[in-house]
Amino acid sequence: MRTQVAIIGAGPAGMLLSHLLAADGVDSVIVEARTEQYVLSRIRAGILEHSSVELLRSAGLGDRLSHKGIEHRGIYLQTPGERHHLDFVDLVGRSVWVYGQTEVQKDLVAARRAADQQIIYQAADAAVHDITTDRPYVTFTVDGKAQRLDAEVIAGCDGSFGPSRAAVPQTVKQVWEKIYPYSWLGVLADVAPSTDELIYAWHPDGFAMHSMRSQTVSRLYLQVPNDTDVKSWSHERIWEALSTRLGASIDGWSLQAGPITESSVLPMRSYVQTPMRHGKLFLAGDAAHIVPPTGAKGLNLAIADVSVLAPALTALIKKNDPTLADDYSHTALQRVWRCTHFSWWMTSMLHISGDPFDAQLQQSQLRWVSSSRAAATGLAENYAGLPLHIG
Ligand code: FAD
Ligand code: DHB
Repeated sequence: MRTQVAIIGAGPAGMLLSHLLAADGVDSVIVEARTEQYVLSRIRAGILEHSSVELLRSAGLGDRLSHKGIEHRGIYLQTPGERHHLDFVDLVGRSVWVYGQTEVQKDLVAARRAADQQIIYQAADAAVHDITTDRPYVTFTVDGKAQRLDAEVIAGCDGSFGPSRAAVPQTVKQVWEKIYPYSWLGVLADVAPSTDELIYAWHPDGFAMHSMRSQTVSRLYLQVPNDTDVKSWSHERIWEALSTRLGASIDGWSLQAGPITESSVLPMRSYVQTPMRHGKLFLAGDAAHIVPPTGAKGLNLAIADVSVLAPALTALIKKNDPTLADDYSHTALQRVWRCTHFSWWMTSMLHISGDPFDAQLQQSQLRWVSSSRAAATGLAENYAGLPLHIG
């Protein structure tokens, strides 16, 4: 098989890249390890930034988003007894949208299917070859049969466990990593949200967050110790902890409980691998970087990478102009590091570390963000307002 861009991974980064390339007349083939059903049903991110929404709309992927998505003006930041609303629209003129990654993935799959995009699902043992030559290729097996895909360039969109990031030699790459001493227990529940906008709550028992997927489905998170076994949290215990941390002490407010349909524990880490390009291999999304979820940046960063990569690959392939491709890693990393810092900052401000000194600083910081327009504007700009290209 031969194509112009071989894309490894059919997550949001890989699917959106193929969509944007196709709009510019560049062919791609996507190689994915899992089944289509598995990729469609993974429950992950829930919030789209303003610029992600604009990009999806401009790429013709905004119809369901406009109908099913829920626009939020801001978030609530909370300490025991005090809930403060930050209005991003008022602060920076930009909103965010509740629209689950599963919905983004559905839109992408439908659009690529309508365009007859070739996606090879259940491809095992994907590996990249000859990435520093003009003839890079990808090998994999399907039903035990060896396959080879030749391309002009390879886009590694295969997340944190795929082969692409590992294909960059140790002598070339640099890795920055931070493992956090806590995880999130996330639940999806068939119950109407008890809040109109997301609540991020600092609490001595640990951070809690109230998000949502629709008017009838809530998404909630609890800070738990690393290596927590999800089975050690009964549904009753989960609702009790959520209720305590989210607002037992907020006058007149109570958390509505309901049937939990999914629960899982998510470890938290920050990870950046540079450069995001080696020869003819370009990394995008989680293949190059991971953020802890507190700032809702993972999916948005994957979208932002691809918005820089697609025109760069188009110029390289169609006009033989390497300028944007040569700049890709540097350009994308400006935003990656900004979001890496913001995600670390939100995480550090809201999670209990066990150190009483940290707890005082966190509460001071939260009071500042809740009372100073300048501080609130900084949070709002990062949460809702980053343009796709910064630097
Ligand atoms: P992915 O979505 O990981 O897609 C990579 C694709 O590559 C996958 O389909 C995978 O199957 C495929 N692949 C992997 N290995 C191979 C291989 N060897 N061969 C072929 N294909 C391969 N972000 C937030 O902002 N908020 C959240 O609440 C949030 N929750 C998350 C929960 C979990 C459990 C995880 C893992 C991530 C979460 N994220 C969250 C992060 C967000 O989902 C990711 O940043 C986003 O999915 C990145 O998209 P991507 O396309 O780069 O990578
Ligand atoms: C969601 C996840 C996040 O990490 C976040 O900051 C906001 C919302 C969510 O899953 O809805």
